[in-house]
Amino acid sequence: MEITPANSLRGEVTVPGDKSISHRSVMFGSIAKGTTEITNFLQGADCLATIRCFQSMGIAIENTPNRILVHGRGLHGLKKPSGILDAGNSGTTARLLSGILAGQTFSAALSGDESLNSRPMARIIDPLNSMGAHISSLNNDGCAPLFIEPRKLHGIKYQSPVASGQVKSAILLAGLYADSETSVTEPTLSRNHTELMLRGFGANLSSETAADGQAAASILPCDELYGQKITVPGDISSAAYFIAAGLLVPGSEILIKNTGVNPTRAGILTVCRRMGADISCVNKTTATGEPAADILVKHSPLKAVTIEGAIIPTLIDELPIIAVMAAFAQGVTVIKDAAELKVKETNRIDTITENLRAMGADVTPTEDGMVIRGSGALNGAVIDSHLDHRIAMAFAIAGLAAKGTTVIKGSRCVDVSYPAFFETLKALKSYP
Ligand code: S3P
Repeated sequence: MEITPANSLRGEVTVPGDKSISHRSVMFGSIAKGTTEITNFLQGADCLATIRCFQSMGIAIENTPNRILVHGRGLHGLKKPSGILDAGNSGTTARLLSGILAGQTFSAALSGDESLNSRPMARIIDPLNSMGAHISSLNNDGCAPLFIEPRKLHGIKYQSPVASGQVKSAILLAGLYADSETSVTEPTLSRNHTELMLRGFGANLSSETAADGQAAASILPCDELYGQKITVPGDISSAAYFIAAGLLVPGSEILIKNTGVNPTRAGILTVCRRMGADISCVNKTTATGEPAADILVKHSPLKAVTIEGAIIPTLIDELPIIAVMAAFAQGVTVIKDAAELKVKETNRIDTITENLRAMGADVTPTEDGMVIRGSGALNGAVIDSHLDHRIAMAFAIAGLAAKGTTVIKGSRCVDVSYPAFFETLKALKSYP
């Protein structure tokens, strides 16, 4: 994909449904009794992998253009899949599904693509096995493919070393099938969509964040969950690219409609404001159980910031585009406490550094982040996405504000989370 510089970007954008919430709506709907109706579901490759996994466990899922209907068969209604469950590129599918599979009465194998099968799974295998589950890494490398055998589960109190929505959710989902209460404590609060949505499905779940920032969520075993109506808000992780585009391209003003702004996801808004961005949330609503708003962003000169500590889990997927903004900002931006970047779809410390350098930026990778000396400008370059959707989209936006032409290699990987990304970008560029 070739990207040429933009003069100004003006207009409205509607981003697709939130990826984390879309996954959960199908998963929870499948193990609930009755029908779950989902609107604004993300039709991206990751979420479609989740649908296929549950279909192959006997769940009827109707995927129509306007809505998804999941005909759940209750907490104990899944059937043994006929083949290996394929999570594709999706860490959320693999990890949350493992939590559900741990509590079943059949065995199952779960695998993914090359990237997924090299990402750490010990972070869920260890706590789930300590609940009594029997999960093994088939290559003995702590990664998928995984083999999950049926066992009785008991509740545990788990202290997670990482703030991870996937780890927390896997354990809470297994907790539905345990014989006593299960709780997870994490160093700082990670995305809480599971807690919010599972409660809506009828789970007995409580959560609290202590004064020192440690966050705990506890779940009681339950007899049944019940199908719900879910409206998925727009994905702030997808909105992030248009936030950055609006800020970086002179003369821009973009309204991003109906975006989820759950505080456990909205760290990018805080960081943009600290960088000096003219950004506001209008038409705020919590009508669908998750906070959402329209985000209005206007071109702004940006200054460097330090990003560290408890805010990191709230913007972890946005760090590639934040790094791009930092390269255009004045001053030295420091990103710390973000070692999790190394275990995403690619090692994002490496892939951000490689591609920012290709565009002429001064960036130094560190063990848990990077240091970016902003110069106010970048040059067009050939970018290797390494088939990481967030790298492809972040550097497409960099290309809009850079001098000269940028080419994104492997750009179709955007299908993972935002199939219409380039079409939306094109429409915005040609807006009168
Ligand atoms: C997700 C949690 C995050 C995030 C991922 C989606 C989720 O991963 O990066 O894109 O839906 O729970 P971690 O749990 O590994 O932090």
